[in-house]
Amino acid sequence: MPEDSMDKPNIVTCTAPVNIAVVKYWGKRDEELILPINSSLSVTLHQDQLKTTTTIATSRSFQEDRIWLNGKEEDINHPRLQSCLREIRRLARKRRNDDDPSLDSTGLSQRVHICSVNNFPTAAGLASSAAGFACLVYTLARVFGVEGELSAIARQGSGSACRSMYGGFVQWIMGEKEDGKDSLAQQVEAETHWPELRILVLVASAERKPVGSTSGMQTSVKTSSLLKHRADSVVPGRMADMIEAVQKKDFAAFAELTMKDSNQFHATCLDTYPPIFYLNRVSQQIINVVHRYNRHYGETRLAYTFDAGPNAVIFMLKQHVPEFVQVVQHFFPPETNGGQFIKGLPVNSAALSEEL
Ligand code: DP6
Repeated sequence: MPEDSMDKPNIVTCTAPVNIAVVKYWGKRDEELILPINSSLSVTLHQDQLKTTTTIATSRSFQEDRIWLNGKEEDINHPRLQSCLREIRRLARKRRNDDDPSLDSTGLSQRVHICSVNNFPTAAGLASSAAGFACLVYTLARVFGVEGELSAIARQGSGSACRSMYGGFVQWIMGEKEDGKDSLAQQVEAETHWPELRILVLVASAERKPVGSTSGMQTSVKTSSLLKHRADSVVPGRMADMIEAVQKKDFAAFAELTMKDSNQFHATCLDTYPPIFYLNRVSQQIINVVHRYNRHYGETRLAYTFDAGPNAVIFMLKQHVPEFVQVVQHFFPPETNGGQFIKGLPVNSAALSEEL
């Protein structure tokens, strides 16, 4: 290869969508490997809506690994970033050695420059770390020619990221092994399974959350007996029920389980000592509006769920979107602080794609 083309950077750009948990992950049994105390289940959103786009370049001329998030340089030595980089490079090295030990491995030691941008507010409880680390791991894998199961690596960036490695309905099986090899994401149903399902994101606040998920769940594991009860006695049955509701496309069952799980998650936050408040006044109003709406029709047409922040994700079927948008505009007119919302998003999409 001529000298100048060897200096040309190798550049790959990929996107990954956000996922919304309907059975929540909250609490780790191993902080370093990011092993959860319960399994969880989520829905991956549509590629074109809430997503992270990551571009990674490698070049012999780069002196060190560097990363920019939303245009600002961040510390590449963050332990979770380092875990992902180390694991992908390890797999790449292993693959080269297995395929052909004589293969040149200089590309593997090349430094990377990573640029990642979200098209939605970071750290406002919209699962930005999930899309971010899923995209990072997938793009790194492309850059270094690594294939196969990558969710265990994404998991080491951020637990919920492992679920964004697949489209459709995805479970993260908590696993039992100490080394975390069986703590993986698995698709329950593909992105084509339930095309009528939609979400509406109601932005109650785009500010950074006061307590991050990582430290919040640490305190919950230490102090909340409700969390232990949830992980041991509630989630196993709820996972089975949720998978059945998804497989049968039973919206009422899916919606009820989703709301109950969100409520129990926020109850464990309140049971944490000192307590953690992720929901605000607007979130509580949204909860009331959803229950009133369902009561009005005598059937469960809407479900809310909230992650570690006040913004609501509302699930519904396609035919109910226009009316519910009107309801939102009535109760939360744009001049109030609950006025922003992101339009009815189709939820199902293939999780990851490479942009050409
Ligand atoms: C409330 O995956 O952000 O969104 O593993 O510490 O990075 P770390 O936590 P993270 O927690 C997500 C918590 C949640 C529920 C969920 O997505 O299941």
